[in-house]
Amino acid sequence: MKRMLAVAVAALMMGGIAHAETVKVGVIGPFSGPFALQGKNFKAGIDAYMALNGNKVGDNTVEVIYRDVPQADPAQSKSLAQELVVKEGVQYLAGFYFTPDAMAVTPLLKQANVPMVVMNAATSAIVTKSPYVVRTSFTTAQNSAPIAEVAVARGAKKVITVVSDYGPGVDSETAFQKAFKAAGGEIVDSIRMPLATNDFSPIMQRIKDSGAEGLFAFLPSGPPTLGFVKAYNENGLKAAGIQFFGTGDLAQESDLPALGDAALGILTTFHYAVSHDSPENKAFVAAAEKSLGDPKEMTFPAVGAYDGMHVIYKMIEATGGKKDAQKAVDAVKGMSWMSPRGPVTIDPETRHVIENIYLREIAKAADGTYYNKEIQTFEKQGDPGLEK
Ligand code: PHB
Repeated sequence: MKRMLAVAVAALMMGGIAHAETVKVGVIGPFSGPFALQGKNFKAGIDAYMALNGNKVGDNTVEVIYRDVPQADPAQSKSLAQELVVKEGVQYLAGFYFTPDAMAVTPLLKQANVPMVVMNAATSAIVTKSPYVVRTSFTTAQNSAPIAEVAVARGAKKVITVVSDYGPGVDSETAFQKAFKAAGGEIVDSIRMPLATNDFSPIMQRIKDSGAEGLFAFLPSGPPTLGFVKAYNENGLKAAGIQFFGTGDLAQESDLPALGDAALGILTTFHYAVSHDSPENKAFVAAAEKSLGDPKEMTFPAVGAYDGMHVIYKMIEATGGKKDAQKAVDAVKGMSWMSPRGPVTIDPETRHVIENIYLREIAKAADGTYYNKEIQTFEKQGDPGLEK
C-alpha cells in the first residue's frame, strides 16, 4: 500500500498521471446599464448549457467568471481581459456583445495562449484579427444580404439604408446594398447614425423625404432598436406605405411587447427566433428561462452563449484541460452540431459559424403574445462579409 502511494506520488510529480483541473472561462459582456438584459441573456445561455450538460468535461470542472462592460468600451474590455488572464488564470475568453470590445482583446490572445469565443459581436473582420477567434453568433453581413432579395420581391425597389455608424452597421449597409443592387434595386439614400443617437425623429423625416418605398435598418439590440422601431411607428412611416426591412436585431423578442400591434408585419432576417420549432430549441428555451426568471426577457445573445459553451466544452475535451490555444481551436474547426437555432458548422477556414438565416414576420399568437414567425429559410449561409 505504502509502495503504491509512493509510485503514484512519483508519477504525479513527473506529470505522468492526468489530474483534474478547474478550467476557468472569463466572460465579458454588459451586465449592468442600458444593455444589461443582453448580458443577462449571455448568462442565461451559459447557465442553460451547464444545466443540461453538467459542469464537468472529463475530470475537469468548468468555472465561469463574469466581468461587466456596460457599454461599448474597448479600453475597459482590454483591461478586464488582461485581469482575467493574468490574475484569474482563465483558459478561455468569451462573451463580447459589442464589436469594439472584442476587437480590443484580439491582440492579447496569441501571447496569452487563450482562445476567444465570440458569443455576439457581429463585425465580419473580428475573426481575421487573430487565429484564436471562433464565433458562434452571426454577422450583420450574414443577416443583411438575404433580406435584400425579400425587399425586391415585396415590391420595394427604392430603398434607403439606415445604420449605426460603427463596424457592424457599416458591414450591414455594405452587404445589403450589394445584394439589393444585384437584385435590381436602387438605393435612394444611405444614413449612418452615431452609435449614441436616441432621437430618431429627424431621421424618420429624412426617410420620408427620400422617396423610398422601403427602409433597411441595423442598430445594436437594446434601447436603440426599441427607440428606432417606435419612431418608425409613431412618425407615420408605416401609414405612408414605407415598408420596414431590418436585421433581427431590430425585432428582439424582449422588445415586442413594448412595440405592440404597430410592429405587426415588420420583416427581419436573423439566425435565431425564440419561437424556432425544434426539440433542441424547446429544451434550450426552458432551461434559459429558468435562469432568466422571466420568459419575456429571453433574447438572442442566449443562443450565441449556449453554442459558445458547446464549443468551449469541445476545446476542453480536446486539450484535456491543459492550456493550448492552437490545439483547442483546431479541434473545433469544421465541427457541426444541431443548435437550438438549427444546424450549424464552424467554418474551418474562417472560424465563423455557417447557419440558416430565417425570414421572420412579427406576429401575434392566439394568446395575445407577440413573436417572430419564421416564414422562409436561407440555408447554410456563410459570411458574405468575409468574401474578398
Ligand atoms: C456589435 O457591436 O457587433 C453588435 C451589437 C449588438 C447587435 C449586433 C452587433 O445586436
